[in-house]
Amino acid sequence: MASIILKTEKLCKSFSNGGVQQHVIKNLDLEIREGDFTVIMGASGSGKSTLLYALSGMDKPSMGKVLFSDTEIQDYSNDELAIFRRKNCGFVFQSIYLLENQTVLDNVLTGALIAQKNSPALVNKAKELLKKTGLNEEDFQKYPNQLSGGEAQRVGIVRAVINDPKVLFADEPTGQLNSASGVEVLNVITELHKKGQSIVLVTHDLKTALRGTRVLYLRDGGIVGDHVMAPYGQDDEKERRNKLTAFLEEMGW
Ligand SMILES: Nc1ncnc2c1ncn2[C@@H]1O[C@H](COP(=O)(O)OP(=O)(O)O)[C@@H](O)[C@H]1O
Ligand SMILES: [Mg+2]
Repeated sequence: MASIILKTEKLCKSFSNGGVQQHVIKNLDLEIREGDFTVIMGASGSGKSTLLYALSGMDKPSMGKVLFSDTEIQDYSNDELAIFRRKNCGFVFQSIYLLENQTVLDNVLTGALIAQKNSPALVNKAKELLKKTGLNEEDFQKYPNQLSGGEAQRVGIVRAVINDPKVLFADEPTGQLNSASGVEVLNVITELHKKGQSIVLVTHDLKTALRGTRVLYLRDGGIVGDHVMAPYGQDDEKERRNKLTAFLEEMGW
């Protein structure tokens, strides 16, 4: 059995909107396995991003526990959370936040832990990772405005994994990309998973969800469905799609 890398106990997250309490996540119990590519799906507004933020220490839960490799993080201060995230988490978002006045390579290196920032080994690692995403030497010195959306997102992914995070978190990583660029980004993420990267990704896109090994369905503040798949590429694509579609239909997607 794979070990549990991330766990919640009775997780609750509420927001006060115009004086009205909105309970978005309600007593949610969840275990995420190391090495899995876990996908969180659900209707728009069901709380997928809210859950991802609570799992990754981007935001604090209202109640309940979040355990990251057995360490409880829900009571961490903002400073403690920032240190924790830098050491353990990588993030990829729908909007791509690259620094416009820094080159591709420097953008990746800004994500590195300060202690290693100027080491030649780290620069080599950054270059190797960038190459694996399909970028080449000439691209390393380009600025973000010289990149396509798909290239920029691939740089964002390299920056997210430069510190070998325990978990890579992604929120609609292909949401702003055209279909061809989206596939390239998905290929990079799938490749990282194949190499052992644990991933937790939020999406409403079937093509993206097909890359996962486990699809969780979020509704009414809880996980109401759990669909397990073989690693991408190891089963029949059509059958995989049919099974996932059937699961999602059953969930009322
Ligand atoms: N910071 C916030 N303040 C107030 N309400 C929020 C906040 N973040 C999310 N919500 C509310 O929580 C609900 C779920 O939002 P979200 O997690 O973004 O859903 P999803 O990602 O599934 O589309 C929405 O109704 C949203 O308005
Ligand atoms: Mg969202």
